[in-house]
Amino acid sequence: MKKDLTKLLDLSREDILDILGLADQMKYDLKHGREQKVLSGKTLAMIFQKASTRTRVSFETGIYQLGGQPLFLTANDLQIGRGEPVEDTARVLSRYVHGIMIRTFAQSEVEDLAKWATIPVINGLTDFAHPCQILADLMTIREHLSALEGVRLAFIGDGNNVCNSMIVGGLKCGMYITVAAPEGFDPAPEALAFAADYPKHFKLVRSPEEAATGADVMVTDVWASMGQEKEAQERRNAFAGFQVNSELMALAQPKAMVQHCLPAHRGEEISAEVFEAHANEIFDEAENRLHAQKAVMAMLMG
Ligand code: CP
Ligand code: NVA
Repeated sequence: MKKDLTKLLDLSREDILDILGLADQMKYDLKHGREQKVLSGKTLAMIFQKASTRTRVSFETGIYQLGGQPLFLTANDLQIGRGEPVEDTARVLSRYVHGIMIRTFAQSEVEDLAKWATIPVINGLTDFAHPCQILADLMTIREHLSALEGVRLAFIGDGNNVCNSMIVGGLKCGMYITVAAPEGFDPAPEALAFAADYPKHFKLVRSPEEAATGADVMVTDVWASMGQEKEAQERRNAFAGFQVNSELMALAQPKAMVQHCLPAHRGEEISAEVFEAHANEIFDEAENRLHAQKAVMAMLMG
């Protein structure tokens, strides 16, 4: 496996399944008091240029559970926020810590960090990708449906970071992915170029109803991602009709599950009713961030 986790495009199907297997094991071990301190004495620097609840808390808790320690760093606390180049930050941190998790805007910043760092770099969300989220989603889907291969997933809404990573991760694991996005809000060209190699497994449509029909898993995410706050009203208009609600769920498989990376905006991308009816699956998904990321850290930093 590569040194870094900057995007799922870099991982093979086997890499993903290895991470999911270790994540399942770590979840079991944690619940049975059999945790191994495989990162004893190691430090993870966590750089946040955007807000976070789940990513911060799951990485911090995860590395503690594995015997290591986290360093929470916001851009304001670092010279990076005052213009110190990424290549210098990467080389300095490589002398002190054993891994870097970064949440930022441009994917290129994460790739540059990984290029210059001699220690593993983990993408905790960029405008392009959210690989850790999708590892947790795949883990949750497999837990609930006992398979990934052949599972039909509908992503309803914005072709954003979560959608891009879901396309790549889902297709690598043999899923059928249909994305319903309004025109102008398509997934990134890199994700669509990857999907072009899976013509039987991938569809991009304009109709949420078409995507939902027969789906085993319904996935959605916010209409305005972090950094797009100013476009929120314009996006609310563009995404009208792209809500995961009971009418849309009625077209999916009777036992279809729902995934949402959170935070959720009830009444926008998901109705309160559907959210609460599927809260168990959604909070399993949030919990699995912890286990999936512990597996990633153990594999890259162990
Ligand atoms: N899903 C997710 O990444 O949540 P946070 O923004 O709270 O980290
Ligand atoms: N697409 C959302 C995901 C938040 C976890 C965002 O980037 O804000």
